[in-house]
Amino acid sequence: ASFRKRLVMGNWKMHGGLEANAGLLADLRAGAGILADYCTLAVCVPFPYLAQARSQLENSAVSWGAQDVSAHDKGAYTGEVSAAMLNDFACTWVLVGHSERRAMHAETDDLVAAKAKAALAAGLVPVVCVGETLEQQDAGQTLAVIQRQLAPVLALGTQAVSRLVVAYEPVWAIGTGRSATPAQAQDVHAAIRASLASIDAAQVRVLYGGSVKPDNASSLFAMPDIDGALVGGASLVADEFLRIAAA
Ligand code: G3P
Repeated sequence: ASFRKRLVMGNWKMHGGLEANAGLLADLRAGAGILADYCTLAVCVPFPYLAQARSQLENSAVSWGAQDVSAHDKGAYTGEVSAAMLNDFACTWVLVGHSERRAMHAETDDLVAAKAKAALAAGLVPVVCVGETLEQQDAGQTLAVIQRQLAPVLALGTQAVSRLVVAYEPVWAIGTGRSATPAQAQDVHAAIRASLASIDAAQVRVLYGGSVKPDNASSLFAMPDIDGALVGGASLVADEFLRIAAA
């Protein structure tokens, strides 16, 4: 749908270093300009590199954000980073509920929704990640899992939901080289949009993530309910990330 501007977002995960980032960010800055009319480009970097992302991307066609945020405002939460702190670095976006955090840090659906709420309250755009494991897919539970993950987010209310982004990342497709087929992803994206129904669902961007590469991006983006991508591995190589955006 052409009225939803496409969004191509990189998730660097725990990769990078000051020197490598400098080259990558400079290449993104240089290459993004001509794409900016057609899609929004963004990178979600590790916390220590937010200052670097800001200084290298300010006034460019690429926006930046973080990969997680605390559900709390402040206090005795060692190791956590608040939404206000992300604002101090002019972040636009923050990922919440990435499957790696759900799996390895035991983040619950309620916690993910609380993080989305904290992000929205600070004026950030949460990118709420959902997706089923291979076992769940094999058991035919894909849509049930996603509805369960989204339920507390939808409970934040229509105003909140109209401001966020949803990213569908089937866990079995992440970092495996095995992307969902465009048709498979489209089915889930349509279901996600249907579950947003009471909201102005037509405006909410639903991204696909999981082994998105330059050679499969255009077939995914051709689907009516796929509004862009959340890109892991390929976002670490400027040329690949820009080719995905160009798709
Ligand atoms: O958040 C993006 C990610 O989980 C997908 O990773 O490496 O399969 O593109 P990758």
